Amino acid sequence: MQDLEPLRAKYLGEIAEATDEAGLEAIRVAALGKKGEVSLRMRELGKMTPEERREAGPALNALKDELGAAISAQAAALADAALAERLKAEWFDVTLAPRPVRQGTIHPVSQVMEECAAIFAEMGFTIAEGPQIETDWFNFDALNIPPEHPARQEHDTFFMAREEGDDRPPHVLRTHTSPVQIRAMQEHGAPIRVIAPGRVYRMDMDQTHTPMFHQVEGLAIDRDISMANLKWVLEEFCKAFFEVESVELRFRASHFPFTEPSAEVDIRCSWEGGQLKLGEGDDWMEILGSGMVHPKVLAAAGVDPEEWQGFAFGMGIDRIAMLKYGIPDLRAFFDSDLRWLKHYGFAALDVPTVHGGLSR
Ligand code: DAH
Repeated sequence: MQDLEPLRAKYLGEIAEATDEAGLEAIRVAALGKKGEVSLRMRELGKMTPEERREAGPALNALKDELGAAISAQAAALADAALAERLKAEWFDVTLAPRPVRQGTIHPVSQVMEECAAIFAEMGFTIAEGPQIETDWFNFDALNIPPEHPARQEHDTFFMAREEGDDRPPHVLRTHTSPVQIRAMQEHGAPIRVIAPGRVYRMDMDQTHTPMFHQVEGLAIDRDISMANLKWVLEEFCKAFFEVESVELRFRASHFPFTEPSAEVDIRCSWEGGQLKLGEGDDWMEILGSGMVHPKVLAAAGVDPEEWQGFAFGMGIDRIAMLKYGIPDLRAFFDSDLRWLKHYGFAALDVPTVHGGLSR
């Protein structure tokens, strides 16, 4: 019988060089298929003498098995290589850092300031600012509170120190946001519509007073403004802020040097079962001071009172924050207690908008 070695070498060589499944299959057909070279050789076994067959039979079978195994091994190797290639192309980094846990919160005072800004912005008010260390003139005189006026005593003012021998009036920590009215009118003139949220200071400390607290001032000056406009604006504000269908406000005649007439505004509420509800019940809670801006105040700010008029109001931000969010003790606002901040604080991305809902 012919030597099988050349056949073996040829096919093993081809198998080792096959680069894809189709090529490998073609080799299998050529060697082991029905009309393959090895199969044809096997068919010749019948024509052999028994001695020849005894030698050639096992050799051909061994060759058939060896080529079959080589083809399987090469197929597996090609599949492995293809997978490795694919994995290389489809690689991505599963170790991407996890999203950070949200830790900080927005303080209720900041949240409420943002809410106020959003509501008044819809009514055409922009934001005005002024310094917290204010001159005596802006904090008092310009607001029609001359040096001997009794209102000065009521303000429990913090005075800044002066150099010895310097007898100009001392600067003060502003006792209210009203001086921003003067600054805004000096800067922009009339007509004007602004709110001024910010810190104010008075020497006072108990469960409902802290030496530093927050107010938001409102000012609207134009040619044809009356108390009716003030009432509408405040009602719209309260409905939007407290997120209720209707509110009832009570305007109580009062006195402020910088407004004439002046009114303090109470909101109808109920304390039934120790729980505060707004817009219903038989109780009233004072939330702000307001009035028509005094002609002397307009004049001090360089606005002609013969031509312009308007209203102003000042509201305690901490107080309306306590009301809206049911926070009982004002002093806790400024304790920086992380547990308190976590409980009463707001998520950083919940930016309040009037249409999106203010306090989600
Ligand atoms: N400035 C006043 C205060 O701190 C509040 C206030 C009352 C502001 C009447 C106003 C106003 O603008 O018109 O007690």
